[in-house]
Amino acid sequence: MTINIIYFLSCALFPLFVLFSFNFLRHKQQSNKHKTKLPPGDMGFPFIGETMEFFNAQRRNKLYEEFVHPRITKHGKIFKTRIIGSPTVIVNGAEANKFLLSNEFKLVKSSWPSSSVHLMGKDSIMEKDGERHRFLRGVIGTSLGYAGLETLVPKLCNFVKLYLSQNWHGQEEISLYRSTKVLTFSIVFECLLGIKVEPGMIDTFERVLEGVFSPAIKFPGSKFSRAMKARKEIEKMIVKVVREKRKEIEEGKLKREEDTMLMSKLVYGMIQEEITEKEIIDNVVLLVFAAHDTTSFAVAMTFKMLAQHPDCYGKVLQEHVNIMRNKGRGESLNVEDIKKMKYTWQVARESMRLFPPIFGSFRKAITDIEYEGFRIPKGWKVLWTTYGTHYNEKYFKDPLTFNPSRFEEGMPQYAFVPFGGGPRLCAGYQLAKLNILILVHYVVTQYDWSLIHLDETVTMDPLPFPSLGMPIRISPKHI
Ligand code: HEM
Repeated sequence: MTINIIYFLSCALFPLFVLFSFNFLRHKQQSNKHKTKLPPGDMGFPFIGETMEFFNAQRRNKLYEEFVHPRITKHGKIFKTRIIGSPTVIVNGAEANKFLLSNEFKLVKSSWPSSSVHLMGKDSIMEKDGERHRFLRGVIGTSLGYAGLETLVPKLCNFVKLYLSQNWHGQEEISLYRSTKVLTFSIVFECLLGIKVEPGMIDTFERVLEGVFSPAIKFPGSKFSRAMKARKEIEKMIVKVVREKRKEIEEGKLKREEDTMLMSKLVYGMIQEEITEKEIIDNVVLLVFAAHDTTSFAVAMTFKMLAQHPDCYGKVLQEHVNIMRNKGRGESLNVEDIKKMKYTWQVARESMRLFPPIFGSFRKAITDIEYEGFRIPKGWKVLWTTYGTHYNEKYFKDPLTFNPSRFEEGMPQYAFVPFGGGPRLCAGYQLAKLNILILVHYVVTQYDWSLIHLDETVTMDPLPFPSLGMPIRISPKHI
């Protein structure tokens, strides 16, 4: 009888014990989870948080010096704040960049302001995750990446030469920044997409870009409304191009193997129902956005550094004269010539280290994240920065000194990140590199040039640009 009672009790109590233990463990796990603290930092006022301080520093192009660095000194390299309505953790350092950028889609996903998403479109690559992102990168990457270089180099050379002869020839003063913007825009359209640039097109695109970081408020005359209107005009133009291309392909007027233009690849994808028309439109708008201000700023800062460091300029000039001497009259550069531009690429990279065209970018935690003993709750934004490593003595000796030779040695992964990293590493990296090197080649070999304002400041709105458009004085050179 006693044995029966004990047996009965153990049978009845066992499930209760299991349930209790499970709940106890779960509770312990949860309380452990919440034991990990949030990063230090001030969240500022409810809702607006520290947004005003953030934007004020940004406007003065002092986002790192006046907003990020003082907080690193106070709280450490990972700190929390609240900006643009969202609780945000700002992380700094190569390890943090690596952790965040390589965990795209697993722990975080890219997070753009709603105005950018409306204007670039929900189907642009920046809004895509996982498999769809990989697929679109594959299509875009084959035209922009290493594989496309053989054909891209001579095309870009002819384009740059023609541009300079039509727009610089006979001039004494030009805006380098404006010139590079027009050139980059035309390269994306004509060399990459095969679309002829018509008068007024660049202005329409710039109206879209002006609204990309403005509040997504639609009222007559607002930047965002104007930008949306411009986006509609662009949509109409691209739809026309896409449909004409489709017709040409379907009528057999184009041979697939001979047609390497990105636009044709996209349209072939559409015919095979792998890509939608909306995806093509959104990605064309995105490519212009991604290439436009970034490349122009990188070119402008490279020239600024060359003007301020005559010894470096001498070495750059020698590199290009040597390349030119081995070419026939009017002969275009090829991939081998680009490889010889080692020092120029060091100068360009050092200029991008000191003046990164992109400050950093936002991600959103898609799960609770534990990092360096801190908890980043699901739904919070995380901002990684280029300055956090580029201006850090730990990665770059005398970080504020311009020293292109530092690129002769290797450096820790994710320390030099003007092009980001991980699955969202800039898809236009190769094109940007070619654009900069080829333009430098033709400018320094064909022109004597000097900056009109040696100390021209840089403004940010929200991307950096030389405040006066970097006017330069030019005269033809006879080597
Ligand atoms: C000096 C010039 C450039 C710089 C500094 C630059 C920088 C960057 C950075 C930092 C990212 C990553 C953003 C993030 O992590 O959220 C990015 C992404 C991207 N860039 Fe660039 N970029 C440049 C030029 C270009 C050009 C010329 C193109 C193409 C025409 C381009 C196309 C793209 C695309 C498509 C992405 C998105 C990649 C993805 O989401 O998978 N970029 N760029």
